[in-house]
Amino acid sequence: MIKNVMTKLGLSLAVALTSMAPAALAAGGGGKLLPANTRPDNIASVQRGAKLFFNYCVGCHSLQFVRYSRIAEDLGLSEEQVMKNLNFTGGKFGDTVVSPMRAADAAVWFGKAPPDLSLEGRSKGADWIYTYLKSFYVDPSRPLGWNNTLFPGASMPNVLWELQGIQRAKVGHAKDGGEAHIEGLELVQPGTQSAQQFDDSVRDLTSFLQYAAEPAALKRQKLGAWVVLYLAFFTFLAWLLKKEYWKDVH
Ligand code: HEC
Repeated sequence: MIKNVMTKLGLSLAVALTSMAPAALAAGGGGKLLPANTRPDNIASVQRGAKLFFNYCVGCHSLQFVRYSRIAEDLGLSEEQVMKNLNFTGGKFGDTVVSPMRAADAAVWFGKAPPDLSLEGRSKGADWIYTYLKSFYVDPSRPLGWNNTLFPGASMPNVLWELQGIQRAKVGHAKDGGEAHIEGLELVQPGTQSAQQFDDSVRDLTSFLQYAAEPAALKRQKLGAWVVLYLAFFTFLAWLLKKEYWKDVH
């Protein structure tokens, strides 16, 4: 009995610790997180994010738990739309999203293989992804010329620089002659999008990665609406019935 309780306690502790892990990881980054304010239930936003993902990210990152057919079904797209507008890697409609980048090549080129992003929306969370994608700046001391304030030393280049423009670090020195530190980032060359448009693009991308990490969430929300309607309808029926019964009593 006691052993049983102990096991249960141990289990719930383990569960509590595991569910705390993403928060701890997120806080472990090199900077403050910006609120992503994503709407992963907003299909239009997830669709725009998918388009961005397949244009700018799939070259290096796979989504090993997501199938093209599932994306079509969940995002209300036809097979043709998905195969023409999202699938540039020659995968079949029923295949999972594989990157053409070979892990071994990537390790040589970037020093590190780009990780699969299937679960990124859950493991790092929306605010982390959103902040990360906005925090790249030029840094000639890095092999690819880019660094990131949230993830210092990241081996990913700023693949969205054409949209965002180029940011440079504003370096400050502590008054007592302490070490130089980054005070903020400033845009030194504008991109094709305004700051507002770029925020929206990054938000869409983040929504898509949240969706990819939990495709069932979209369905659950749709189902949720039906459950509420169903309950409302039966409450109405019950009310009619009650009126009917009490008519004779009054
Ligand atoms: C040229 C290859 C390349 C492209 C294109 C690319 N990435 Fe990356 N990405 C990487 C590499 C390499 C890493 C590993 C960085 C490290 O750990 O130092 C990475 C890491 C990441 C991470 C952090 C993963 C983690 O938890 O450590 C995220 C999030 C991410 N990429 C998102 C994106 C998104 C979104 C796009 C498209 C806008 C994109 N990447 C495009 C190479 C790429």
